[in-house]
Amino acid sequence: MNTEVLRVDPVVPDPAIIARAAELLRAGRLVAFPTETVYGLGANALDAAAVRSIFTAKGRPATNPVIVHVAEPTQVLNVAASWPETASCLATQFWPGPLTIVVPRKPGVPDEVTAGGPTIALRCPNHPVARELIRAAGVPVAAPSANRSTEISPTRAEHVFKSLNGRIDLLLDGGPCSGGIESTVVDVTGPVVRLLRPGLITVPMLEEFVGTVEVLTRTGADDGDVVRSPGQLARHYAPQTPVVLFDRGWPDLDDAVMFSILDGKRATTLEFGEARPRRPELLRDSLHCVFMPTSPDEYAANLYRMLHEADDRDADLILIEMPPDTPEWAAIRDRLSRAATRA
Ligand code: TXA
Ligand code: MG
Repeated sequence: MNTEVLRVDPVVPDPAIIARAAELLRAGRLVAFPTETVYGLGANALDAAAVRSIFTAKGRPATNPVIVHVAEPTQVLNVAASWPETASCLATQFWPGPLTIVVPRKPGVPDEVTAGGPTIALRCPNHPVARELIRAAGVPVAAPSANRSTEISPTRAEHVFKSLNGRIDLLLDGGPCSGGIESTVVDVTGPVVRLLRPGLITVPMLEEFVGTVEVLTRTGADDGDVVRSPGQLARHYAPQTPVVLFDRGWPDLDDAVMFSILDGKRATTLEFGEARPRRPELLRDSLHCVFMPTSPDEYAANLYRMLHEADDRDADLILIEMPPDTPEWAAIRDRLSRAATRA
């Protein structure tokens, strides 16, 4: 059966639509909804069976815990065993917004939410539809990104529909997400704040309020260490189409374009900044060039849509010119490296 799709105004959501979606959540059903980062696939976080059905719909391994969303910062005390000083400080600065804070979990939170672990990841999103929905449901809402496991996250309702149609009960279509990549995830359970996933809230932004942030560089599952944020397996956020990355600089990318043409392949390029003159022999119909914004926020807002479009175009290859290696580009470089990982 097709998933029901309801259009909802992203700024002033219709209370009748919100009430209907909230009722489904309370009844243990799955509702996809927009947030300021990406679309989430929501279920009542206190209902173990409902949370299990998220994992079934996504094909997600049970070892990967989900983020729990709250409408108000005060709601965290329903699910967190403690709320450290640093959590409070970060929430004051960045909530509602694209920051997820990992704290000790309260007994009674279903194991499905935390993958049996002692901590819980919490976020107060800054999107009227998300907040009104959580408020109306009256329960914390577990919501991973609304895509099948290992696919690129959805930034538009069409992406959710393409990936999960028939597997979820309702999709609230609130238009495109403004942020475009998943929230920053930090763990505040230790003596120093640890970055588990880079995002739009950058390390320098965090450090302004909580001192030095420990950045984990090991992201693969194959390094023999415990994966501290299980979602951080190397292959994640990957389009169907193979992705190859290039350092900034024209000649390498141009050579790769040349080889793809000689191979008879259809390539899509995501190039950094404005179009530059290209050798005439490289101007082919089989080549589709996209010129990406040079501001990190605008780049993030467009990245997943561009990857979804490259997949839809049946490209054989996506060739991507990397943005600069500076802190404000860290989250985007992280997502690009994961998109290029084929494991
Ligand atoms: O922007 C976002 O965060 C989106 C929207 C929908 O809010 N959600 C999202 O959820 O990206 P998901 O499930 O795709 O990513 C959750 C990340 C994973 O990397 C997961 O391993 C990590 O958060 N995580 C969840 N609970 C955790 C915990 N208790 N300890 C450490 N990491 C945790
Ligand atoms: Mg995800």
